[in-house]
Amino acid sequence: MIVFLTGASGLVGSAYARAAARRGHHVVGVVGGYTGKIAGVSETVKVDLADLDATTSALLDAFPEAIVNCAAVASPEACETDPARAQALNVALPAQLALLARHVSARFVHLSSEQVFDGAQTTPYRLSDPTAPINLYGRQKLESEKVVHAKAADHAVTLRAPLLMGNSLTGQRSTHERLFLDWSAGRAPRLFTDELRQTCTAENLAEVMLELTEREDILGVRHWAGAELLSRHALGGRIREHFKLTERQAPLLAVSRQDVPEVARKRQPCLALDFTPLAGKLKTRPQSLEEQLEELKVPVPAREWYLKL
Ligand SMILES: NC(=O)c1ccc[n+]([C@@H]2O[C@H](COP(=O)([O-])OP(=O)(O)OC[C@H]3O[C@@H](n4cnc5c(N)ncnc54)[C@H](OP(=O)(O)O)[C@@H]3O)[C@@H](O)[C@H]2O)c1
Repeated sequence: MIVFLTGASGLVGSAYARAAARRGHHVVGVVGGYTGKIAGVSETVKVDLADLDATTSALLDAFPEAIVNCAAVASPEACETDPARAQALNVALPAQLALLARHVSARFVHLSSEQVFDGAQTTPYRLSDPTAPINLYGRQKLESEKVVHAKAADHAVTLRAPLLMGNSLTGQRSTHERLFLDWSAGRAPRLFTDELRQTCTAENLAEVMLELTEREDILGVRHWAGAELLSRHALGGRIREHFKLTERQAPLLAVSRQDVPEVARKRQPCLALDFTPLAGKLKTRPQSLEEQLEELKVPVPAREWYLKL
């Protein structure tokens, strides 16, 4: 199958490219600024995805059977800094890709986020639970879901994903990679003891997306996450332990949401997703935290620091 993959250089996109190549798909990988090689990508195309004419032309050149959208302004902070750029990537781009999916009759796999919910609920969010985003990123992701399914209801599936672990090409994107960046620079990251997340790895998410690419019978918005819910601080502790780092080598500052109300205001206290309806239809299994940790590598930018310890 010819797959037009946006965000091929990102955390999820690069994992998807590797997974799709293993299944024999021809991946046309779209990159923005990234210039390195990407395993699994058969053809690399450089396109500014904020330019919808250029995006349309690249997509029609590829004439794909599937479109997989992993491009985004994927951090809430970056969305607040440049809302117009974030709107272009997070809403206008998926809207155009959905339209094109309908025109060329391609499968469309899109990514949304757990952040469409407000995080006030302590039980896993079901698909029927009301959305109520509390930050711009969440609002844009929700808007993207609505527009994608309005334009390509018979072609599209959108996965709401949790906070991601995994190994990115730059070694600076995922949860454990950011911790390593801090530790290797002599900083002690500040992690909430009362902010709960249900991580999965980008690699596991990519396997789910690949199944969805090939399974045209699954449509609409779906949930995926890992099998365990724990605080960001507890997660940091498990990562430190997994890499056999001491508290001195890899310090973690425990903070509570009430210590920093101005930060907590735009962050959800508890984000758990009920993935059971989708898990019942797929071969890929939700991972335990131990399984996720087993997949993690020391990120390249921190490797020298780690080896010298
Ligand atoms: N990371 C998480 O924890 C998480 C959690 C839940 C959901 N998600 C969702 O999962 C999806 C993938 O996220 P991610 O973490 O893999 O993102 P990421 O690592 O930040 O990658 C973003 C990708 O978008 C591309 N991109 C951005 N602006 C572009 C432009 N103007 N033109 C061309 N390409 C552009 C980047 O390309 P270049 O680097 O080549 O410029 C990069 O490949 C997003 O929809 C995100 O909202 C992520």
